[in-house]
Amino acid sequence: LSQTERKIIENSIRDIKDFPQPGIVFKDITTLLNDKEAYGVLMNHLYHRYKEYNLDYIAGIDARGFIFGAALAQMLGIGFVPIRKKGKLPYTTISEKYSLEYGVDEIEVHIDAFSAQKDAKVLVIDDLIATGGTANAAATLVNQSGAQCVECCFIIGLSFLDGVKNLKEKTQVYSVIEV
Ligand code: PRP
Ligand code: ADE
Ligand code: MG
Repeated sequence: LSQTERKIIENSIRDIKDFPQPGIVFKDITTLLNDKEAYGVLMNHLYHRYKEYNLDYIAGIDARGFIFGAALAQMLGIGFVPIRKKGKLPYTTISEKYSLEYGVDEIEVHIDAFSAQKDAKVLVIDDLIATGGTANAAATLVNQSGAQCVECCFIIGLSFLDGVKNLKEKTQVYSVIEV
């Protein structure tokens, strides 16, 4: 990623103070998505990074991870697996509870999501890592499914929290931009 490309992505992300609660500076990626240059630069960068990984699946985290994950899976010509908030998936699931910057939640994945491929190599993707609670739970679910989480990828890494540091004990971590 060149300095110019990095700036294009950084400048397209909007900060919203005190959302969803006082004290949080919310990183709004809708302004990245509706900027065709920034979205294009980002997806092109991700494609070139991950085409070398020989991945079997991209697992995207509900909800903002779906946007980048589904697009990337299609570019790489591989399958996409949604890791969803509890109660949304219709078939048998395995689930994992976690805490995040502003509350607690639970995510789950279909029990057979990665089973078509033995020891499937999986990239977990989300828009942002804060405490790392969500991504840690997602990586746990992938590994519990008999697949292998080879890396967790984020568009934005919030480095003032210890999320990346903690997650690195479990898997490789890559953030396109650090703030
Ligand atoms: C946000 C963000 C990440 C997560 C990061 O999702 O999109 O998924 O929080 O926080 P953490 O590192 O502390 O776990 P959120 O659950 O707010 O909702 P959304 O993606 O469904 O909008
Ligand atoms: N998820 C957790 N913390 C966040 C933040 N500061 N901005 C956007 N999404 C988030
Ligand atoms: Mg999310």
